[in-house]
Amino acid sequence: MIPSRPDPVGPLPEQPLVDPLVDRAFIGVLVRDFYSRVRADPRLGPIFASEIKGDWEPHLEKMTDFWCSVIMKDGSYSGRPVPAHLKLKQVRDGDFDIWLGHFQRTAAERCPPEIAAVFVDRAERIARSLRLAMFFRLERPATAAG
Ligand code: HEM
Repeated sequence: MIPSRPDPVGPLPEQPLVDPLVDRAFIGVLVRDFYSRVRADPRLGPIFASEIKGDWEPHLEKMTDFWCSVIMKDGSYSGRPVPAHLKLKQVRDGDFDIWLGHFQRTAAERCPPEIAAVFVDRAERIARSLRLAMFFRLERPATAAG
């Protein structure tokens, strides 16, 4: 028997969320609020500052494309998040909890609860897969002897 999905949140992740409130303008505001919190964070701020020098607008537009694609399935994002994060050598596993904390608070303050729950569910799923790509290793841990 194929197990059922545990506690689905909103539409299935591969389906669009259709809601009159949620359009590109709404997502653009959410993204900008979120990144202003991330930039002010004592741990995450310096990581972003060392990667994004100068104009933040291209990054904010790319992230708006990304969230429009994740939530509305409008196909506006066509990048590769895994390699973009693999090259960030300063990031630790625990940084994802800080990132998700800011994301949850931004969504809770900006969205009705059922919409916030969908954004947070998708962020948690993607964070999980980025963490696996960045930090999960099958081989034996390195020893002092090499
Ligand atoms: C500790 C957590 C994280 C850190 C420190 C981090 C940091 C960064 C940085 C520095 C960039 C490069 C910016 C640029 O050059 O444009 C980036 C890109 C990106 N991040 Fe994250 N990120 C984190 C978690 C996440 C999560 C959880 C998601 C998704 C839910 C995400 C989605 C993206 C996407 C879509 C891009 C653009 C990739 C591309 O197409 O170039 N990030 N991130």
